[in-house]
Amino acid sequence: MTSTIEATQGAAGEAGERRRLLILANDLDLRGELEKIFSDLDVRCSDISEQVLAVVRRNEPDVVLFDLASSEASMALQCLDLLREILNLAPDTKIIAMTEEDGRDLAVQAVGLGATDFYHKPINAAVLSIVVRRAFRIRELEEENGRLREQSGSMTIDGIIGVSDAMRALCRSIEKVAPTRATVLILGESGTGKELLARALHRLSERSHQPFVAINCAAIPDALLESELFGYEKGAFTGAAKRTLGKLELASGGTVFLDEIGEMPASLQAKLLRVVQERTIERIGGRVTVPLDLRIICATNRDLDALIAAGGFREDLYYRISEVTIRVPPLRERQGDGLLIAQFLLQQMAERFGKPTRGLAPDAIRAIQTHRWPGNVRELENRIKGAVILADTAVVTASDLGLQDPGENTQYLNLRVARQRVEVQAVRQALAVARGNLSRAAELLGVTRPTLYDLLEKHQISAAQFGKAAGFASGNGS
Ligand SMILES: Nc1ncnc2c1ncn2[C@@H]1O[C@H](COP(=O)(O)OP(=O)(O)O)[C@@H](O)[C@H]1O
Ligand SMILES: [Mg+2]
Repeated sequence: MTSTIEATQGAAGEAGERRRLLILANDLDLRGELEKIFSDLDVRCSDISEQVLAVVRRNEPDVVLFDLASSEASMALQCLDLLREILNLAPDTKIIAMTEEDGRDLAVQAVGLGATDFYHKPINAAVLSIVVRRAFRIRELEEENGRLREQSGSMTIDGIIGVSDAMRALCRSIEKVAPTRATVLILGESGTGKELLARALHRLSERSHQPFVAINCAAIPDALLESELFGYEKGAFTGAAKRTLGKLELASGGTVFLDEIGEMPASLQAKLLRVVQERTIERIGGRVTVPLDLRIICATNRDLDALIAAGGFREDLYYRISEVTIRVPPLRERQGDGLLIAQFLLQQMAERFGKPTRGLAPDAIRAIQTHRWPGNVRELENRIKGAVILADTAVVTASDLGLQDPGENTQYLNLRVARQRVEVQAVRQALAVARGNLSRAAELLGVTRPTLYDLLEKHQISAAQFGKAAGFASGNGS
C-alpha cells in the first residue's frame, strides 16, 4: 500500500513540473480545439470571470492564453482589467492576448498592460503553437536569469554595479586600498559614484564598525565650515553656548569623507593641511591639541591641476590628500554599465513603489546606450524613478525615460560598420544578461557556442568581464 501512495505522489510531482498553460475563454468549442493543440502541456481552462484569479493562485500557470475576442466593447474592458489583475498577482506570468482578426487596437492595449504577445484569430495550430512555445521559452530564460543573479549574489542594494573594464579595474583598486590607511582622492564627474566608492572603502576597511562621516564642503557656507569641521569651545564666539565637537573629531577612529574638496576656502585649506600632516586638531577657541585617528578620503569633480595653476588650491595639500588617486570614468565611457544599472534600478524601484514594471523596451535600451548621461548614474536613477512612477505600462520606453529613441537617427558609415556595431552591441547585451555564461548568451543570441566564440574573437570582447564579479559586492567588511 505504501508504495502505491508513493508512486501516486511521484506522478503528481512530475506533473507539477510540466509546463502549465491556462486557457481563458468562454467559447467551449474554442477551448476544446486549443486543448487538443496543446495536449502535451499541463492545460487548464477557465471562463473569463472573477474566478480566474483564484485559478491563477492555485495553478500558477507559466503562460496564459487569453481570448479577448468579444463583440461587446464593455466585455473587452473587463478583460483588460482582469489581465492587469493577473499580472499584479503573478507578474512573471506570460500572457498571450488572443483577438479577432481586426482586434489590433485591443491587442496593442493588452501588450501595453504587460501581455507578452498577441495572436489574431483564426486559429492556425502551427503558428499559435510557436507563439505559445516562445512565451514558455521567455519564462524559462527569465527564471534562469533570476537564478544566476541570486547565485552570484553580487547585485546587492548598496553594491556597486558594473561590467565595464574601467569599473572592474576600479573595484580591484578599491579592494587593495581599503585595508590601508592611505589618504585617497576620488576624482570624477558629478553622479559617477564617488561617494558610493568612498563608503565602500570604509566598509572594506578595519574601521568599518567605526563612524563614516561625510561633509560636503560645497554645501556649507565658508563662515560655518570651520566650526563644522573643527568644533568649538564654550564661549569661542557669540552663541557658542557649550563645547561642540566638529565632524573631524566625531569621525575619529573611523573615516572622514571630504566631498567637493575643491570648493574649500584657502584659509581652511591651510588648517586642513595640518590635520592631514599631524593628525591633530584644535577646536575653535581652544588651547588643547586633540589627537585624531582618522582615515581621510577626499573627492571632487573639479580639475584640481587647473585649480592649482589658477591659485585656487594649495599644491602641498593636493600632494598630501592624493596618496592614492582614483579616477571614476563618466557613465558614457563605461560600456555596458548603464544598461546593467538601469535594469537593477528598475527592479529595485518597481519593488519600492509597488509597481509591476518588468522590463525595458528595445527603444529604451537603445536610448540608454547612446545618451551622453551628463548627470551620470544620478541622472539614470532619476529618469528610472520617474518612469516607474509615471509609466502606466509594464514596459518602460525611451519616452518614459524622457529620452529620444536614437534608433532611426543613428548614422553609420556604411553597411559593414553598421553590422559590426549592432553585432558588438547585441553580443555585449547578451553577455550582460547572461552574466558571462556563454551557453546562455549563445542561446539568447540564437547562435551556437562556436559562433559566439568567433564573435568574441572577431570583436575582441572578453566574456570574463561579464562574469560573476561583474557586480562588485562591498557588503562584507572582512
Ligand atoms: N556603480 C553603481 N552602481 C549602483 N549605483 C550607483 C553606482 N554609481 C553610482 N550609483 C548611485 O548613483 C547615485 C550618485 O552616486 P554618488 O556616489 O552620490 O555620486 P557622486 O558622489 O560622484 O556625485 C547614488 O545614489 C549612488 O548610489
Ligand atoms: Mg557626491
